[in-house]
Amino acid sequence: MLWIPGPTEVRPELLAECARPMIGHRSQDCIDLIERLDPGLRFAFGLKEDSDALVAAHTCSATGLMEAALRGVGPKVLAVVGGAFAKRWREIAVSLGKQVVVLDVEWGRVVAADDLRRALAEHGPFDAVTLVSNETSTGARTPLDRVAEVLVEFPGVHLLVDLVSYLAGAPIDFDTNRIDFGLAGVQKALALPPGLSVCCASARYMESARSQHNRGFYLDPVSFIEGHVKRATPSTPALSLYYALARQLEDITAGTTLPERDRGATGAAAWEARYAKHQRMQSATVAWGKTHGLELLSPPEEASPTVSCMRAGGLDVGEFVARLKRKGHEIGNGYGPLKGKTFRIGHMGDHTEVCLESLLRAMSEVLLELS
Ligand SMILES: Cc1ncc(COP(=O)(O)O)c(C=O)c1O
Repeated sequence: MLWIPGPTEVRPELLAECARPMIGHRSQDCIDLIERLDPGLRFAFGLKEDSDALVAAHTCSATGLMEAALRGVGPKVLAVVGGAFAKRWREIAVSLGKQVVVLDVEWGRVVAADDLRRALAEHGPFDAVTLVSNETSTGARTPLDRVAEVLVEFPGVHLLVDLVSYLAGAPIDFDTNRIDFGLAGVQKALALPPGLSVCCASARYMESARSQHNRGFYLDPVSFIEGHVKRATPSTPALSLYYALARQLEDITAGTTLPERDRGATGAAAWEARYAKHQRMQSATVAWGKTHGLELLSPPEEASPTVSCMRAGGLDVGEFVARLKRKGHEIGNGYGPLKGKTFRIGHMGDHTEVCLESLLRAMSEVLLELS
């Protein structure tokens, strides 16, 4: 079983959706297929009924949408960097010729409101702030409501948020948290094969984007978001993944992916129950760690609900991961500078609590073997 922090296990029903016969991408069938995505995406981004934000899908990995997001804002960017994927925001912004100021955060921690406020005030005015809501490399979760409280003091700044390992794993309040562009790949908590990404853009982001010159072509956010809205994608979409995404969003909304105890919940309640399942899986993982003297890299109040990144102490992480794989469970080693010092479990998507128990049992056995 695949417990790395994405890609993650994909249900057979969703793989079967990918095997459907092809349709023309300018056909009514395709219009109907794109149409099926919006209700579920609006739940996933937590949009209010009257929100004027736009949801869309685009055929690329999440990194593509990070680049697209930056193409729609002005030149001056504050990059909050506390992990590998936050660093990627900075690298993309630099590659696009933006003027980038970095606000460094210790890996495993999240940005403090006062530090963010100070950086915005002292080095601004900025056109945008980039941050990662759920840093897959460290397992730290940035509370977006805290960020929003600061950003209301800086109305000209667009908030671009990587929700890659967070969307469909935990609640997002796009409108209240004043997000301008949120994005995710489908291979994480949406539990689909990789290759497709989704986003949500505020009306003021779209206005900003339309006024930017040289937005490129394939990753021009105006082009693919307006294409999605018109049900006429600017290029041929990954139709197989569209089928799988439509089915997954509908299944989540209908509550069919929920454990027995939550069956019957539908709509927003079903999405909430999915988030609660992730939180319970996180708690079970943390409790397992405690019994073995292992703790998360992040303090509990900053810990991700979908990715647990544990300090390995003296454990040989490479050997631990390899032995677990032989027992049928694949978890992640630490990422980048944290390799060998941490290990990561992606308890996200359609993984169940019952399966998590068997992973935790196998992890205990391997620890015993290595002791
Ligand atoms: C938080 C985060 N952002 C961005 C990415 C990049 O996503 P992709 O590989 O789909 O481009 C990842 C991938 O693991 C991620 O975890």
